[in-house]
Amino acid sequence: MAASSASASAPPHSLLLAAVALAALASVAAARDENGVYDPCSDSRIQRGDGFSFGIAFASLGAFYSGGSVQLSPCDRRLSLASSGQLAVFRPKVDEISLLTINTTTGFNPATAGGYMVAFAGRKYAARSAPTFVSNSSYTVSSFTLVLEFNKGRLQNLHWKKDGCGACAKSSSLVCIGKQTCAFRTQSCKSQGPVDCSIGIQLAFSGTDKHESVLNSWYEVSNLRQYSLYGLYSNLKDTLSGQFNKFF
Ligand SMILES: *[C@@H]1O[C@H](CO)[C@@H](O)[C@H](O)[C@H]1NC(C)=O
Ligand SMILES: *[C@@H]1O[C@H](CO)[C@@H](O)[C@H](O)[C@H]1NC(C)=O
Repeated sequence: MAASSASASAPPHSLLLAAVALAALASVAAARDENGVYDPCSDSRIQRGDGFSFGIAFASLGAFYSGGSVQLSPCDRRLSLASSGQLAVFRPKVDEISLLTINTTTGFNPATAGGYMVAFAGRKYAARSAPTFVSNSSYTVSSFTLVLEFNKGRLQNLHWKKDGCGACAKSSSLVCIGKQTCAFRTQSCKSQGPVDCSIGIQLAFSGTDKHESVLNSWYEVSNLRQYSLYGLYSNLKDTLSGQFNKFF
């Protein structure tokens, strides 16, 4: 699915460079998917070229914690996310740079869903990211970078990398919040305004696979980040494999 962004205004040469780099990376990792685990709440051990399923849950900040202080995996039934949260499931290829998109112009509203998201996978070896702010009535963040860190093929950690405010200057609709994140004013987002504030999540892998091969797409992404995501949407194939539904 090709995605587009009304905020796209990066200079053409940076767009081209980044698109070329991404195409090259995609052709290197053409190995077969041998991972038979599709449920994001099950455990798997991956190798390069496998698909890897993980979920992103949207809810209010408090909904990710049990007893107000302990953050649990969204797979954990002690949280009431099954009834209150919204879930997206993705299956990117390990060690390929992917841009995942969640279209927020066609019904799903991250602010109404609670405003925060957590990425997660696994059950016995459960890993989850910290909750990250997406949207409220004032601000909407649409660009994210998520690093999936593996050790010998097992997911250890998911981190949201702050992209910084360098890209905020590229669009007059963007403002810098918390000194480290560009956001749109929610009033300028569809359906209230003209901007497509759909969520884009740039993904990268780090650590080692089950054969102890090093996953290095994170290294590539950290080099690419200067070419902000805002201008890249139309050049990327995403690997969106799930839609919002009740999964638990
Ligand atoms: C979201 O969906 C609308 C309607 O189908 C489409 O026009 C828009 O380009 C999509 N945005 C993204 C980022 O995919
Ligand atoms: C919206 O989120 C921003 C950034 O997290 C925060 O500073 C602001 O107080 C929030 N506004 C409302 C109305 O919740």
